[in-house]
Amino acid sequence: MKLWGGRFTKETNRLVHNFNASISFDQKFYRQDIRGSIAHVTMLAKQGILSETDRDIIINGLKGILSDIENGTLEFSPESEDIHSFIEQNLIERVGEAGKRLHTGRSRNDQVALDMKLYTRDELDEIDALLKNLLTSILKVMEEHLETYMPGFTHLQKAQPITLSHHFGAYFEMFRRDRSRICDIRSRMNLCPLGSGALAGTTYPLDRDYTASLLEFDGPTLNSMDSVSDRDYLIELLSALSTIMMHLSRFSEEIIIWNSNEYRFVEIDDSYSTGSSIMPQKKNPDIAELVRGKTGRVYGALMSLLTTMKGIPLAYNKDMQEDKELSFDAIDTVKGCLTLFTGMIDTMKFNQSVMESSAKNGFTNATDAADYLVNHGVPFRDAHGIVGQLVLFCIEKNISLDDMSLEEFQAISPVFEKDIYEAISLKTCVEKRTTIGAPGKEAMIRVIENCKDYLNL
Ligand code: ARG
Repeated sequence: MKLWGGRFTKETNRLVHNFNASISFDQKFYRQDIRGSIAHVTMLAKQGILSETDRDIIINGLKGILSDIENGTLEFSPESEDIHSFIEQNLIERVGEAGKRLHTGRSRNDQVALDMKLYTRDELDEIDALLKNLLTSILKVMEEHLETYMPGFTHLQKAQPITLSHHFGAYFEMFRRDRSRICDIRSRMNLCPLGSGALAGTTYPLDRDYTASLLEFDGPTLNSMDSVSDRDYLIELLSALSTIMMHLSRFSEEIIIWNSNEYRFVEIDDSYSTGSSIMPQKKNPDIAELVRGKTGRVYGALMSLLTTMKGIPLAYNKDMQEDKELSFDAIDTVKGCLTLFTGMIDTMKFNQSVMESSAKNGFTNATDAADYLVNHGVPFRDAHGIVGQLVLFCIEKNISLDDMSLEEFQAISPVFEKDIYEAISLKTCVEKRTTIGAPGKEAMIRVIENCKDYLNL
């Protein structure tokens, strides 16, 4: 049964019905659809547009539908065009005449705009909570590894020594920004479109402020044409989700490298790894790879929706139905990735000694050796050249700077004294970097305090 059969003399072609129908995916927001309808009839009754008796009959019917869907006694029918038709038809079957008054002063255009906003708002809150969990796990590693020295890289070449705490701190900042983007989107989108009708409002004396407050919006939207055709918040959402995935993907890439046989900085727990059907020795970082791989489909959703929206004249057009599967898939993908990634971090082992010896053997203290010379009056450009010679010497002998004898140091520059060893020890190199944002323990402790406050820990 169609909601709009009156004007038609022929049945819809079966393929047309299937092509047009959205019930297979918009059933995802049955809860929001019912919530919106309850608010709508509550407002209609307050305004005297609907009797209080009809209001109560409708609300009871809707609550019955909700519990029947949730306990599995009511199944979504593929014969219905969409979730809105499904619920309205079911209501009419249950409560009769009163059910036919539900759609007074409403169109599916403002109804779907509302449902999608309510759904997105709920999901934004869930994504925010998952980001907070991830940040809590990251912070734990930051607190535990203030003195776990490792090489910091540029160009994937060992550059200067840092700590694992500092490295994880970089991701803390990224996911902190992601949360603030989610929060911005939530506050910008939080205006209620219900009451906009098909495109031009309605002739009923609706109280849109009241409906908005019942549904915990900050107020009603201010242009009915925009209300039914605004999908900006979904584009913003997909953009923020893409950024989250980009961060997770970079992090995954590092973990894949760190977990490799060559690096062995970390070991992914057995429970988060998979094996090979042919090579018995393998333990693969599939979760990190899948997270990295799934980034593509979230970016794809963003590009799809931008492209879908670019040629649509005002106001509602059916193209907009395409927003749903894309957004649902991207939201579910991000939620899955955040959950799995957090579990992987929580169970991962960090090989401190491997990280530390990697930092020692990669000349990550070369800059500090040059700074030592500068502190003894050598101009930086000359110091750079002298340390270059030291490095060349070490490469030939296959040793690190710390392994050179004082005579060998002094043969290259007489400025070097016994205290050079202390000056270029990993610990000194890191701990002297005490300005805020740097890896030194003193600076990191201040940052960790800030992170704790931010997470209310
Ligand atoms: N399934 C539709 C959508 O997702 C609902 C709105 C239908 N409105 C209409 N005028 N056909 O956009």
